[in-house]
Amino acid sequence: MQPSTSPLSTLPLDPWCIRETAFDTASHFLRETLFALGNGYIGLRGTGEEGYTGPAGTSLDGTYLNGFYESEPIVYPESAFALAKTNQFMLNVPNAKGIAIEIDGARFDPLTGTLGRYERELDLRTGVLVRSLEWTAPGGKRIALRSRRVVSFANKHLFAIEVELTPLNFSGRITLRSFVDGAVKNQEAGDDPRVGSAVSGPALQTVAVEQDGAFSALVQRTHNSGFTLVSAIRSVVEGVDADAWQEGQRAGQTFVCTAVEGQPLRLTKYGSYHSSRDYPEGELLARAQETLTDAQAAGFEALCASQAAFLADFWAGADVEILGDDALQQGIRFNEYHLLQSVGRDGRTNIAAKGVTGEGYEGHYFWDTEIYIFPFFLYSKPEIARKLLEYRYAGLPQARERARQMSHAKGALYPWRTIAGGECSAYFPAGTAQYHINADIAYSIKSYYEATGDLDYMAQAGLEIVLETARIWIGIGSDDREGRFCINEVTGPDEYTALVNNNYYTNAMARMHLRFAADMADQLARERAGDFARVAAATGVTSEEIAVWRDAAARMHLPYDGKLGIHEQDDSFLSKKVWDFANTPKENYPLLLNYHPMVIYRHQVCKQADVVLALLLLSNEFTLEDKRRDFDYYEAVTTHDSSLSSCIFSIIASEVGYHDKAYDYFMETARLDLDDTHGNTHYGVHTAAMAGTWMGVAYGFAGMRVSDGALRFAPTLPRKWQHYQFKIQLRGAQLQVRVSGQVAEYTLLAGDALDFTHFGQEVALTRSAPAARISMEAQA
Ligand code: BGC
Repeated sequence: MQPSTSPLSTLPLDPWCIRETAFDTASHFLRETLFALGNGYIGLRGTGEEGYTGPAGTSLDGTYLNGFYESEPIVYPESAFALAKTNQFMLNVPNAKGIAIEIDGARFDPLTGTLGRYERELDLRTGVLVRSLEWTAPGGKRIALRSRRVVSFANKHLFAIEVELTPLNFSGRITLRSFVDGAVKNQEAGDDPRVGSAVSGPALQTVAVEQDGAFSALVQRTHNSGFTLVSAIRSVVEGVDADAWQEGQRAGQTFVCTAVEGQPLRLTKYGSYHSSRDYPEGELLARAQETLTDAQAAGFEALCASQAAFLADFWAGADVEILGDDALQQGIRFNEYHLLQSVGRDGRTNIAAKGVTGEGYEGHYFWDTEIYIFPFFLYSKPEIARKLLEYRYAGLPQARERARQMSHAKGALYPWRTIAGGECSAYFPAGTAQYHINADIAYSIKSYYEATGDLDYMAQAGLEIVLETARIWIGIGSDDREGRFCINEVTGPDEYTALVNNNYYTNAMARMHLRFAADMADQLARERAGDFARVAAATGVTSEEIAVWRDAAARMHLPYDGKLGIHEQDDSFLSKKVWDFANTPKENYPLLLNYHPMVIYRHQVCKQADVVLALLLLSNEFTLEDKRRDFDYYEAVTTHDSSLSSCIFSIIASEVGYHDKAYDYFMETARLDLDDTHGNTHYGVHTAAMAGTWMGVAYGFAGMRVSDGALRFAPTLPRKWQHYQFKIQLRGAQLQVRVSGQVAEYTLLAGDALDFTHFGQEVALTRSAPAARISMEAQA
């Protein structure tokens, strides 16, 4: 099902809006993703309220709830001990958007009759999706239609739609039917793991339909995960009675309206989702009633006002301003907006690879969160970053259980992909074998602690995760004949190389992890003796065990090839044959869709940044020359078939002075979804790459690093730009960084003081001296 798509780049490059001015079946599927609305819980794809009657394969009218899933046994024709046994996948839940409009028997459908003026716009400051059009029914009756759709950021259970309809050349009967449709199912993935789930057929069983005047609700159950879901709507047309109706798994209200030429009719619909993942089953219906009654009482405008206020606060911390490249400006804001739409903020949910915009990767959470997405939230909205960490703490019991299944007597092993905490990766070479997930989580906890100084968090949860996950390195590592501590049979970030010994990234991150765990244990033992005693009792960690960690870290094997002067991706990587790039036709990329995994594994070829990612995360451990040589070598063998790759190459290219390359890689990331450069955005946005754009500006062009708590910048300005500007929060302060051709300006916007370096030069900002302007000429 590969639809042809036309990039949005042909549309206006408004810095704050995504706008289309034509209804086009060729790009419809893609734009359902781009115009998707979400609030970290509910995700509504951008399909019109009237549904879609275009050609097969050009639409997925999906509705998703972050963290709401069905589970199913993973069936292996040839199984093995401790392979993941149960998959969880995000469900396509009832479509509660539906509004059918009938004018004298003719149903409004952009693909029949005649569509006149048409415009759809998502303003990233208001969070309201507005569609405005004129349509002539086959019989000649003309209407103007304006709809507004909001998925509330303030109340995760709520969305609302308002449709305003004006007869332009007639007076007469217009029938409006508002409904919730429970006859939905998920996409089937086929051979492409990035598309959807392996399940076919409906997963939700309707157990009751509740109707009460303007209120309709479907009560449904999942078969295996045992959840109950209430999907409800409440519809109102002023001055017109609601007639309740039900057909099969559809329920709603009909309004028969006597329309008068030139006078608008208005239908407002409030929708909600509540599930037994969040509340006791017996409360769900009452909660839905209350949510919708309260929303109606407050009204649609109040919802819009609260949405705008929420977004004003978000942008005050998160906005990245780029002057000189409108396409990029639009791209980066679009990406940040989608990150906000995708991120679970309740501590029980996280951020899926495709957010809540599509079924690709089945709604699973990966390391994408900790390594790609976490920094954006940490430095823009630390309270959201903390929620992401809470999610991992909630999953610690399952991580412990998984460790036991994997024959580790002690410790916790986090799943490679999951929703509720259990390992869901059915293909272990590019799944469970990515043990680096443990270090990635520890890294994000370390970054959080260094950025916030939140020792309470470390005492309550952080330390326990870090200690339990550190243990696994000792569990899987061993000394080689030269006394080096080795970690064998793992897969690093690069999924085109699997099950190797001493993956550089894994070993270097494990070393960081072991040291951090030991340091944190010492610090808490000193500063919070009571808390430390509690965690030590709960985990059984002893000072002897910590000494073993320090020793393993000191002897960690970090493969290096002296002849080439580069860090080896793993023990065997450089001995393999280089992939024959010259004779690989363009259409054979991504390689994963065209070659058996083993064919790929036998070669020197990378899907994504691996050693190059270590250069960023562990920046202080490498010289600039190291970084340049590693970049040169690995760039030549990397396909960037993963959307997680280009942003990292952009950042390191900036650092080593390859400014044009930095810009090109950055461009690939910044508009990856808007321009559908990977050709699969119709299945959902790429949240890791979206966050990679923020990193590309902060870590790349501005050269920001926070290493062991010390903040530094080394900014450059891409030739095309006049300036860029962003803000970060660190240690209770908020700093604005603005870089133009001539000067770098650092302004302390909040907090008492902040120290950092600019190209090694010390800068100390205080309340009384809150700004520094530093000439960039020396760097030019
Ligand atoms: C990448 C992984 C990533 C996953 C989900 C894969 O293509 O190789 O690194 O975690 O996508 O985004």
